[in-house]
Amino acid sequence: MILEAKEAKTQYDILREIKDRWSPRAFAPEPIDTKTLNTLFEAMRWASSSMNEQPWRVIYAHKGEEAHKKIVDALMPGNQIWAEQAPVLMVNLVKKTYTRNGAPNKSAHHDLGLAIGNLALQATAEGIGLHQMGGFHKTQLEELFDLPEDYEAVTVIALGYFGDPDQLPEALRNRELEERNRMPIDEFVHHGQFSR
Ligand SMILES: Cc1cc2nc3c(=O)[nH]c(=O)nc-3n(C[C@H](O)[C@H](O)[C@H](O)COP(=O)(O)O)c2cc1C
Repeated sequence: MILEAKEAKTQYDILREIKDRWSPRAFAPEPIDTKTLNTLFEAMRWASSSMNEQPWRVIYAHKGEEAHKKIVDALMPGNQIWAEQAPVLMVNLVKKTYTRNGAPNKSAHHDLGLAIGNLALQATAEGIGLHQMGGFHKTQLEELFDLPEDYEAVTVIALGYFGDPDQLPEALRNRELEERNRMPIDEFVHHGQFSR
């Protein structure tokens, strides 16, 4: 059974794409065409960023391309096992300094996150699943792509249309079917003062 949306049980009503987005590990083999990928990149483009620096950069590759293999090579084994089947893999980078004056950009990671948030919601609207990964060998990936000193690989994302969870090893299949859950609002929202 292919699961496209894993609707969050929200405390308040929110946008459909936020509710439905989840991180799949099973992908259909069908590729993502260039126009659809560009729609996702367009969504990234319009994220806000400190000083409008737009510090995000991406390197993407389709399954079967050399760069896709390179990205798989740099993933941790627990991610390799499922992510190598993803039709598209993408490395998300930041430029660490402001172009205008060379000063360190302390908002670069934050702003990449905003752009990826846009991409995630656009992908959900397009019926595409994405799974973000921090589990990769950073230095290896940066060397494989010969990144200049001023750039850092922050995350890798697997993208594709939703696949059949039965194609996954049992432990991963069970995780695929688990409900999404979150801490309640009052555990992270404080009115007027911080409390633990
Ligand atoms: C920065 C970041 C790094 C992550 N790294 C991994 C990873 O290496 N492997 C993995 O399977 N999932 C990874 N995830 C996915 C999270 O585990 C997942 O988003 C979280 O459990 C919430 O589930 P949901 O996205 O389905 O709502 C990562 C997510 C983020 C945002």
